[in-house]
Amino acid sequence: MEGGAAAATPTALPYYVAFSQLLGLTLVAMTGAWLGLYRGGIAWESDLQFNAHPLCMVIGLIFLQGNALLVYRVFRNEAKRTTKVLHGLLHIFALVIALVGPGLVAVFDYHRKKGYADLYSLHSWCGILVFVLYFVQVSPSNTPGLGPPTREVGGGGELG
Ligand code: HEM
Repeated sequence: MEGGAAAATPTALPYYVAFSQLLGLTLVAMTGAWLGLYRGGIAWESDLQFNAHPLCMVIGLIFLQGNALLVYRVFRNEAKRTTKVLHGLLHIFALVIALVGPGLVAVFDYHRKKGYADLYSLHSWCGILVFVLYFVQVSPSNTPGLGPPTREVGGGGELG
């Protein structure tokens, strides 16, 4: 930790972290098993292209992004620069997998190849809202450390 006393680590923290990882990995494994065993698997150049969507969304937006949010708590006594880099990398992986990579592209591309309409469901519009809010959240003006320096209030925040 830079410029201050080490933050006290709650005794149960390692157990909470282990439990969260177990839950996350179970979720990813169960999604993969569901797609593999009951939905025919995943392949880019076939009808199975759609199946990349649920798996990549779960890996990117739930598992990786969830872990990106936990980094500052889990590594609370590491150098802030290190945790920032890890936090940023996890967000980049999450975005690549969920958005620019297979996640969202898979479903739009699949709909296009099949001649299906886009954005016809509440799910799809909620999904678009998720991405809009994600980008608002990571925009420089909302992300301490990416935007211009701001005055510290109350001794500085966790993320500053
Ligand atoms: C945070 C996670 C998710 C986001 C942001 C998201 C976003 C989206 C978006 C934007 C579409 C519209 C694509 C189009 O109109 O061409 C879509 C379609 C779809 N998604 Fe997801 N999705 C997520 C997770 C999931 C999961 C986990 C499943 C399945 C278990 C799923 C199943 C579907 C299905 C069946 C469609 C096509 C029908 C429809 O448009 O509703 N999605 N998703």
